[in-house]
Amino acid sequence: MSSIPATLTFSRALVVVVVLVLMARVVIVQSLVGGEPRLSAKRRARCARIRRPPPQDIVMNDPRQLLQSLDLEAFWMPLTSNRAFKQAPRLVVGAKDMYYTGADGRQVMDAMATLWCVNAGHCRPRIVEAIARQAGTLDYCSSYSIGHPVAFEAAHRVVQIAPEGMKHVFFVNSGSESVDTALKISLAYHRLRGAATRTRFIGRERGFHGANIGGMSVGGVPAYRKAFGAALLPHVDHLRHTQDLATRAFVHGQSDTGAALAEELEHRIIPLHDAINIAAVIVEPVAGAGGVLVPPQGYLERLREICDRHGILLIFDEVITGFGRLGRRSRASSSASCPT
Ligand SMILES: Cc1ncc(COP(=O)(O)O)c(C=O)c1O
Repeated sequence: MSSIPATLTFSRALVVVVVLVLMARVVIVQSLVGGEPRLSAKRRARCARIRRPPPQDIVMNDPRQLLQSLDLEAFWMPLTSNRAFKQAPRLVVGAKDMYYTGADGRQVMDAMATLWCVNAGHCRPRIVEAIARQAGTLDYCSSYSIGHPVAFEAAHRVVQIAPEGMKHVFFVNSGSESVDTALKISLAYHRLRGAATRTRFIGRERGFHGANIGGMSVGGVPAYRKAFGAALLPHVDHLRHTQDLATRAFVHGQSDTGAALAEELEHRIIPLHDAINIAAVIVEPVAGAGGVLVPPQGYLERLREICDRHGILLIFDEVITGFGRLGRRSRASSSASCPT
């Protein structure tokens, strides 16, 4: 019980996931001899192809011409069967509100808001204007020792809509980075208050927290864990996932078995590792990428209670559920299940 106040103190710190993908960085490795690139004939041909002017006017008018003008090989697409895509490319060339425009001019409804991240709609004039205005005023400025007013204003606005007690925002470039940052803050927090043994993390089966090493370590997607097991963090354990078919049978909506499910933390995980070795529990309030799983009623609330009782931090990864996607600002808006 003694560690509860400390945990609550930490609740003043908020890691808000703000996905600002500012730049795609492409690293081109060249073999240089005497300062000049040494290129094979094939490479030279490819470079010449790449240097062709970008296909602008032809885009909408002639999809075949567009395809011929593109070097499809250069871009290694993430989480995609590259060979299959490149044999039958599905290219979109524009977007407005809920629809993409395909290269052939067809309108395609973006029913998922892309990756649940364009919920305000595509190419909304107010948003486009705001981005253009800022790009023309101050296009880039780091936050290392210098600052700019917009970052402070944005953080202030996020705090205003964040759950009670969350007063600080740490901006990052992606969901994966937000998870790594939350894990790092947990370790630093415990260390600074003299609880350096708290180094373990508890994730959940079928959880997805990004394809980075930290995210895959606490995540519970078997394919990642098999492929990259050698590089994953040690000292991580996982709760059961929340798809409890037996108790869900014939139930409309959420069953009321959440508290019992969360008891696994108290009765299996904590006795196994000892609470004084556990830094944080990390879950998605509603699982997304590993299967959309709404937890049974009472689950998050009981996790909260158990974590508080044992001085363990509770991290909610709201990359998918935050900012109004569940109908309220965040799943964490319900105070009984607020994360630390
Ligand atoms: C819950 C959750 N966390 C983290 C991530 C990783 O985000 P990103 O792809 O921006 O790194 C995702 C991506 O879908 C996610 O769903």
